[in-house]
Amino acid sequence: MGARTLVRETAEELWEALSEAWRESAEGAVRERGLFVAALSGGRTPAGFYRFLARQPGLPWGRTHLFEADERLVPADSPESNQRLIRETLIEGLAQAPGGAHFVRTDPADASAAAADYERRLREFFRGCGAAGVVIDLVLLGVGTDGHTASLFPGSPAVAERSLLVTGVPTTASRVARVTLTLPVINGARRAILIATGAGKRWILRRVLGGEQQLPAALVRTADGPAEIFADRAAAG
Ligand code: 6PG
Repeated sequence: MGARTLVRETAEELWEALSEAWRESAEGAVRERGLFVAALSGGRTPAGFYRFLARQPGLPWGRTHLFEADERLVPADSPESNQRLIRETLIEGLAQAPGGAHFVRTDPADASAAAADYERRLREFFRGCGAAGVVIDLVLLGVGTDGHTASLFPGSPAVAERSLLVTGVPTTASRVARVTLTLPVINGARRAILIATGAGKRWILRRVLGGEQQLPAALVRTADGPAEIFADRAAAG
């Protein structure tokens, strides 16, 4: 896979480096296209980054549009909700509201309906910007201990989806139904960054870096090349 890996001793140092990468992508996108589009993941890892990012000065938030990489089909105020996490740890901490926060609507009856609604809105947004296609500037992804990323779980049909940009992930005994961006839109992004912190991610990160193809996180790349991995020393070993 040859992922480009950046390691920092602590999570705080990692968030500093990641916020500079965010700034570089945001300023470049605004300069070239007048706006910056990012897709954000939920989970514990990015929460610390979002709080750090919200405190960084001089970012073009008014020209920034936030989407979700994935979402659980739970009420928007549920503790499990990714949009609640993004709202509470990032948006509420910003001095300036983002140009747009385009969250998954979790009220549709089932995952497929919610996914179709989100894909329609994603396509409409880019069409409205006069873009030729759906090209997200920066997708920020976590890595599950099973090697999942977004809500692309090992062995799930969603991993093999090559035409839909957003697909539903049915509920299982261990998790609620979800909606997720698919690999075509993740790998079509200008930049894809996987983040991992803590010793609990060391083993799976080593396997992802080894390019094990059954791990969805190992399949992430962009048109420019392999994904970037931002890890602290505990996760990177
Ligand atoms: C989700 C997340 C998911 C997350 C991984 C890692 O909705 O569950 O988007 O893909 O990134 O599960 O989660 P942690 O960061 O909590 O380890």
